[in-house]
Amino acid sequence: AFTGARALQILDSRGFPTLRVQIRDDAGDHFYASAPSGASTGSHEAVELRDGGTAWSGRGVTKAVRSVTGEINTLLTSREWDSQSTVDNALRELDGTAEKSRLGANALVAVSMAASRAFAAHDRASLHTWIASTVGCSQRLPVPHFNVLNGGQHAANALAFQEFMIAPVGATTLPDAVEWGADIYHALGSILRKKGMATGLGDEGGYAPEISRPEQALDLIVEAIETAGHRTGAGDVAIALDPAANYFFHDGRYLVGEQSFSTTELVTYYEKLLDNYPIRSLEDPLAEDDPNGWPELTAALGSRIQIVGDDLLVTSAARVQAAIASASANAVLIKPNQVGTVSETFDTLRAAAQGGFTAMVSHRSGETMDSFVADLAVGAGCGQLKAGAPARGERVAKYNRLLEIADEDPALSYGLATPMNQGNQH
Ligand code: PGA
Ligand code: ZN
Repeated sequence: AFTGARALQILDSRGFPTLRVQIRDDAGDHFYASAPSGASTGSHEAVELRDGGTAWSGRGVTKAVRSVTGEINTLLTSREWDSQSTVDNALRELDGTAEKSRLGANALVAVSMAASRAFAAHDRASLHTWIASTVGCSQRLPVPHFNVLNGGQHAANALAFQEFMIAPVGATTLPDAVEWGADIYHALGSILRKKGMATGLGDEGGYAPEISRPEQALDLIVEAIETAGHRTGAGDVAIALDPAANYFFHDGRYLVGEQSFSTTELVTYYEKLLDNYPIRSLEDPLAEDDPNGWPELTAALGSRIQIVGDDLLVTSAARVQAAIASASANAVLIKPNQVGTVSETFDTLRAAAQGGFTAMVSHRSGETMDSFVADLAVGAGCGQLKAGAPARGERVAKYNRLLEIADEDPALSYGLATPMNQGNQH
């Protein structure tokens, strides 16, 4: 039985407030979880509760802290709980809003994640093993997608595309994949220094050089992969992009560097990128407000690569089911705080699997040291995790947790869940 819930306002990786939750049980154990926070968000995400006013530029979370110490504490200590879903359903009912805005999705997701840790401990299971048995998945160590070059909402440069990731799909073990990622990240830093380019970092720890064309970023990354002694492509290191197109879609046009594209022209532009670079995955290639564009793009590119809905699908099972029915993508990004509870995240994973969508688990750009998403990626068996650069504490917390799991459980296999979409044959 739970004997109490507390919360504390702490700093996230951008220096903004977020909350850490502690749940206690009658065995005297304490379980913690912290809420991450996005900067490039979808309009249908569950809503964070922030204080407003002048303190912390309105971003304080003391109201969300009070949700936990007040009503949620009363709820959790009021009766026995036998499953994650009963806790999460009760949290949703208590909140009473569709978007979790009354108690705050930031409060709810941290409580829900801490409860997962409590249920896992009660079962004497590791978090990832408990997740696998709760969702009904076979475990797998995911291919880390290291975001080594940042633009968009995550950097001050003029690059429209938000994330340029490297995916060591050809590594045979997780530790090798981490080593390859770090080597390539360091090679990229050396190349930028040699070219006299800026080596400042974006929010997720990737470099943020002063470039504006995606091709410049891709050329730098290909050079870094080769400098580090790897080959590009399906057998070795593939590239994944998150353009996060919501943020360069204005009045029906997509603005990329000096160019302005219609939807159809942007699809053609992506097609050319696929012909020239070893890209295996495209996330939010179009804006969420371009619903007819998504089936067009998926029809054109979906047999060659993974098309991931993030802002479009916001980890919602209903939105994933709609995207499956309309063939608007072929994969979903999984961020528990977009939907607000762990059980709903599990529902979305199941909906994706039923409809033949792949899934990629993800951190947020505003992060803490909480490594829940690493266990989630392993437990869901989806084969893909993105958690930023292989540098900076809040990013490496996730990759280091994968290393820990790999060390504790040497029988776990590493790699993508399906051979599909390893990398397009460019
Ligand atoms: P966010 O961005 O965490 O700032 O929303 C991440 C993403 O778009 O994948
Ligand atoms: Zn995204």
